[in-house]
Amino acid sequence: MSGSIKVPASARPTRILGIGAYRPSRVISNDEIIKNIDSSDEWIRTRSGIENRRWATEDETVISMSVAAAGKALADAGVRPEQVGCVIVATVTHLYQTPAAAVQIAHKLGTNHAAAFDISAACAGFCYGLSLGSDMVRSGTAEHVLVIGVERLSDLTDIHDRSTAFIFADGAGAAVVGPGNSDDEQGIGPVVWGSDGQHLDLIRQREEWREALFGEGGPRMPHLVMDGNPVFRWASYEMAKAAQQAIDAAGITIDELDLFVPHQANMRITDAMARSLKLPEKVAIARDIAQQGNTSAASIPLALERMLETGEATSGDLALIIGFGAGLVYAGQVIRIP
Ligand SMILES: CC(C)(COP(=O)(O)OP(=O)(O)OC[C@H]1O[C@@H](n2cnc3c(N)ncnc32)[C@H](O)[C@@H]1OP(=O)(O)O)[C@@H](O)C(=O)NCCC(=O)NCCS
Repeated sequence: MSGSIKVPASARPTRILGIGAYRPSRVISNDEIIKNIDSSDEWIRTRSGIENRRWATEDETVISMSVAAAGKALADAGVRPEQVGCVIVATVTHLYQTPAAAVQIAHKLGTNHAAAFDISAACAGFCYGLSLGSDMVRSGTAEHVLVIGVERLSDLTDIHDRSTAFIFADGAGAAVVGPGNSDDEQGIGPVVWGSDGQHLDLIRQREEWREALFGEGGPRMPHLVMDGNPVFRWASYEMAKAAQQAIDAAGITIDELDLFVPHQANMRITDAMARSLKLPEKVAIARDIAQQGNTSAASIPLALERMLETGEATSGDLALIIGFGAGLVYAGQVIRIP
């Protein structure tokens, strides 16, 4: 055997150093949505908790929204772009098959040729990315990792489809992951994650691009289609179990939690999960969906930023985050607020 491969010495603690978000400028009310579907403001509010959502203008692209959110997260973290070793972008709405959005974002931010790639894990994407980023920093693969969740779901939403038109929205959120200050400062708990491909039809792109462009009735956008009720039931019950596993994996009790920040899919899913978990009264629950809509991979960092802005979250708080969606896929972990 010749030579020996060197690897970084040992695992080290990791934490989130900063959070940033970008909310598109267009506020779309339920009244605007129901111009195109047979529905009502009251139905949308009571069934989903959504009052308004944000949709991007032409200039608010996946790239520009990500750069804005990431820039804020870096400033919040006190980390310079050239200190970023890897950019991970979770999205299902970057409409180029290649190159990855992360490569352009890394370049526009002024990183020093950081490694960059996209992941497709739908509404669980941010938590998947956070887990990867934390493992990279933990093992010494990177010193700082930028994790971005971004969507322009309005591009893939059929405004005439009443099962999806009211729910999906646009935005970007980002977090900077770096090493903890001391050996016992663990800021990101073990991920609990998984997939269940037998339910892939429940939320999906209606058809592949070739079919959308050249098939019957084309060319047209391959819009998202959703069978909402089974997703609702799966999320309400199965995801509470995964959330409890993430709490157990972090070695804390539910009484030690300060914040509950589930994917902002539907306010009633959030409430059902909180009931199943028997969340103590004192735990602040993210309700960003009311004014933001369901932004898939962006929803958790957007909700975290909102809670920091309103003072519901403060530095040092313990938060349970959990994302779930198309696939089906899910991922959750306990984090400490920077
Ligand atoms: C989409 C969702 C809000 C629908 O709520 P629901 O309580 O499951 O509603 P259902 O689909 O059972 O439909 C109930 C009734 O409302 C009607 N309805 C459906 N969409 C409607 C709309 N936009 N406006 C008015 N009525 C509507 C249905 O036709 C049905 O009528 P019926 O009782 O006369 O048959 C809910 O299922 C949901 O949020 N699912 C999860 C979505 C999600 O999280 N997706 C992304 C994962 S990340």
